[in-house]
Amino acid sequence: MKIITGTGSDQVIKENSKVFMLSTKETSYIFRVLPSGHLENLHYGDRLREQDFRALYMKQNAGAGSSVLYMDGAMSLDLLPLEYAPNGKGDYRIMPLEIEMPDGSHVTDFVYAGHEITEGAIPMETLPTAHGEDAVTLTVTLRDKLFPVTMKLIYTVFSNTDVITRRVTISNGSEETLRIRKIMSLSLDLLADSFDVITLDGGWIREAHAHRRNHAHGTFINESTTGASSNRHNPGVILAEPHTTEDHGRCYGFNLIYSGNHHTAIEVSSHGIVRVMTGISPHNFLWLLQPGAFFETPEAVMTTSKKGLNDLSHHFHDFVNHHVVSKGWEGKARPVLMNNWEATFFDFNERKILSMAKEAKKLGVELFVLDDGWFGERNDDKAGLGDYEVNRKKLPNGISGLARKIKEMGLSFGLWFEPEMVNEDSALYRKHPEYAIKIPGRKPSKGRNQLVLDLSREDVQSYIIKQVETVLASASISYVKWDMNRHISDLYSEAVPHQGMAFHSYILGLYRILRKITGDFPDVLFESCSSGGNRFDLGMLSFMPQTWASDNTDPIERLKIQGGLSYFYPPSTMGAHVSQSPHQQTLRRTPLETRFHVASFGLLGYEMDLTNLNMKEKEEIIHQISWYKEHRNLMQFGRFYRHEKEKENRVNFQVVNEEKTRSVLDNFQILQNASPGFDVLHFKGLEKEIKYHVETVKASMDIEAFGELLKHITPMKLKPGGLILRNARKIYRLPHNVESYDAYGDLLESGIRVNQQFMRTGYAKETRMLGDFGSQLMTAEKKGEEESGDR
Ligand code: GLA
Repeated sequence: MKIITGTGSDQVIKENSKVFMLSTKETSYIFRVLPSGHLENLHYGDRLREQDFRALYMKQNAGAGSSVLYMDGAMSLDLLPLEYAPNGKGDYRIMPLEIEMPDGSHVTDFVYAGHEITEGAIPMETLPTAHGEDAVTLTVTLRDKLFPVTMKLIYTVFSNTDVITRRVTISNGSEETLRIRKIMSLSLDLLADSFDVITLDGGWIREAHAHRRNHAHGTFINESTTGASSNRHNPGVILAEPHTTEDHGRCYGFNLIYSGNHHTAIEVSSHGIVRVMTGISPHNFLWLLQPGAFFETPEAVMTTSKKGLNDLSHHFHDFVNHHVVSKGWEGKARPVLMNNWEATFFDFNERKILSMAKEAKKLGVELFVLDDGWFGERNDDKAGLGDYEVNRKKLPNGISGLARKIKEMGLSFGLWFEPEMVNEDSALYRKHPEYAIKIPGRKPSKGRNQLVLDLSREDVQSYIIKQVETVLASASISYVKWDMNRHISDLYSEAVPHQGMAFHSYILGLYRILRKITGDFPDVLFESCSSGGNRFDLGMLSFMPQTWASDNTDPIERLKIQGGLSYFYPPSTMGAHVSQSPHQQTLRRTPLETRFHVASFGLLGYEMDLTNLNMKEKEEIIHQISWYKEHRNLMQFGRFYRHEKEKENRVNFQVVNEEKTRSVLDNFQILQNASPGFDVLHFKGLEKEIKYHVETVKASMDIEAFGELLKHITPMKLKPGGLILRNARKIYRLPHNVESYDAYGDLLESGIRVNQQFMRTGYAKETRMLGDFGSQLMTAEKKGEEESGDR
């Protein structure tokens, strides 16, 4: 490892007279060692030049009122912006560390003992770590004043993405066992009176809805206690100055590379300092740290921007794409897939699967995924989890036979597993009931008829690795959907010396399994899933480059889900499928094109019985898939923009490529208004000097949408619902939304006044027939490049 020693201006981390300056492309993070040995935060915001930073020191010269002064001095820790506050020394704000020391007290006083600057990120042994050869790491060592206990604060700077990560290790050099009750990965004090806090909250089929509220007093907590990062509260949190919008204003973003119980707390202190901390949830947590042992926290991620929430999201997106997702999958195109789940549930056999695959191939699909129900006695969700022996009644030629036939059709093949779970009605449970998490002598609660396997146990880890690897080695499998369908309850593990260690040990066990399996099968594309997006987090993304965003495939609901996730996660991480309408989750009817448009802002798949489609629908899907393949790079890895809601019934998503020569903008209309006003569509992120050709993507609508009006616009009088119409709609669809322009980026940013919407006064192919749940996709391509290949 190369040690960076000098103070050259091109360096990312500089230290001068115990002042540390960490710089990314556009931000600086500065702190210093106080005479007392504590660390004072001086700045997190715009990039500053190197200079005398005394103007940033906190001044305490008017007395401290009721505050407690540190030792015999005049300094109150309570009034300082600190890097990682000592517990029990007069700082009464929320504490990042609670640890029972050898004397039984919870008082700790860690002070500066040295530091080291190294090139590259430093990988952890037990937990996933962001990678980056061009990153630079600062490790500050602190020692407790009384006991031989050492803490390291580790800062890694990912300069090009404007992200800094933080984590903490504790080493016990004493002869007593320490009890860690709470240990945050990051604690940061910012000077502000209040922030708007943005979190992603929800539940099954309504994950990651973004919520924003002002937090001006007291403590706010965003936390999961389910054992997973959870669909209730995603670990990502944003603090935004109250006037911050998508494109203007200061904001700070935080996330955690961890898949278990997380905790972010934000306290507004009485003196204009906001403390934010993030790490493992202290809920039911207690870690015994034996003499000589050390504990490492998950890595927390932070970034800031003064250019609004989109820019903040872009930092996160770049960071995930380049430093979280493994190198092997970085920027790698993801296949268009077909998944049989919503079409068949458990009720399939080889013939049915092959006929679906054949149809999928004809439409342009690249990967066929066989979901739940292929193993053991898994004919419903009451049995079979744990037994990954193929069910020969359904698949007489086994997985290898099915995979071979699918491959012969020209498709790749993928398979579903739920390795962390067991049904009581399974061979595994009958043989090893002790593998399941439950309290001896007590009946456990069940979720989806299943129990969770105790991943802290090495024998369970080995069992899972063997089961999954045996199947993967036995057939041509290029994709795995790794599911996890219930929260943990009745937590008790034989594998840990204290039950407070069980939640975190589960996650350590999970990571050990994932490291081994994904390492042994690096070419297999893994998609993580947990009843949809119940474990959408940076920990899972470190091993599996994509996550099934939600079991909800209704596009109108997906706007909220994918839109929410986009604050922290790029489109390249979001599995998004087109499904049958009415939707299984909402019974809402939506147009096929809207379903496709929403799914195309993620990793496109189809999850419906393709054999039920009529000719026109098939044609439309063929067109969709070929359009997506042409624009795949842009849709999966382009810059994603959210637009402020200009109208209550409108949502706009947009992507722009790196060169700013291509962009796709979608205008989604939630509900139709009668005789609506004119719409203006704005493109963001384009180059003002470039001339673009803008046009709507070919759209067509079901003629049935006209109802009784149809008889006035067709040459023949057609009866609504009649036989002729029923047959006509199978072979004919009406074009609409046809418009195109040539214009420079400046005009496109200022806005295109698009065609009028339908208002009963007539139809023309130019009319925008959006209706309820309609959408209009527009592309902008640099003039002269419309036909060029790589999109
Ligand atoms: C979960 C997943 C679904 C599907 C089912 C199968 O609910 O989220 O996509 O795989 O399990 O049981």
